[in-house]
Amino acid sequence: MYDKTELLAAMEKTALICGAIIKGAKEEHVASREKTNFRDLVTSYDVKVQNTAVDMLSKQFPEASFFCEEGDDRGSLSGDTVFVIDPIDGTANFACHMNISCISIGCFRNGAPLAGVIYDPYNDELYSAAKGLGATLNKKEIHVTDDPLEHTLVMVGTSPYNPELWQKTVDKIGYIMPKCLDVRRRGAAALDLCAVACGRAGLFFEEILALWDFAAGLLILEEAGGAAYTLDGKPLPLNGGKSNIIAGSPRCIAESGILENFR
Ligand code: IPD
Ligand code: CA
Ligand code: CA
Repeated sequence: MYDKTELLAAMEKTALICGAIIKGAKEEHVASREKTNFRDLVTSYDVKVQNTAVDMLSKQFPEASFFCEEGDDRGSLSGDTVFVIDPIDGTANFACHMNISCISIGCFRNGAPLAGVIYDPYNDELYSAAKGLGATLNKKEIHVTDDPLEHTLVMVGTSPYNPELWQKTVDKIGYIMPKCLDVRRRGAAALDLCAVACGRAGLFFEEILALWDFAAGLLILEEAGGAAYTLDGKPLPLNGGKSNIIAGSPRCIAESGILENFR
């Protein structure tokens, strides 16, 4: 069993180095290739960052397994210690030079989140959490907001790779707009979860996410006093399956009524 502080320090160091690679990307080298459809991209940097993260963490934790977004072989979720990595969350933003992307590294111990680190290199913001130790942004403790939903922003993910889910997204946006300050679509689910964790937003929802999108953000959010569920009100699956999600402060989730009205 690793010391949580040591584990977190290694994950943070990895995220900072990977973040520097993301931020330092030269425009002419950001070539992209389509995966499942023309919106679902992978760039040379997604691969480079993932390889760097896996190399760094496997040197320090040789017995750990990896479950990563890129490549045909995603790796394995079996094993006592598993790092779940999204090398660039917000790849479409990255490919379009939008400067809203991050790296997300979760660590699971016996199938449950133990630590999570998300780094936004463009704003130099490092979010971290370890089970039972709270969540921080640049080493300062963070908490979800206590504000009512009507005073908070709502982050929305548009499930870009699944057109069959777009109408459900539009329906929920129409439902939530009159109840909140406004909605935001930033294009990086891991950063959306962090926005809720640090109280900048009250709520986040999306019709489909993969484990690497929320592995780190879920723990950061929970350690900051927030909660996340499937849209059926169940715990998010941690077995590698995709899932819809609602995440927020307990107050904003309750005031949204989404779990009651969209079953
Ligand atoms: C995507 C982003 C986006 C969300 C998608 C994710 P990627 O991740 O987080 O905001 O709407 O559902 O797949 O493909 O940029 O790593
Ligand atoms: Ca992602
Ligand atoms: Ca990605």
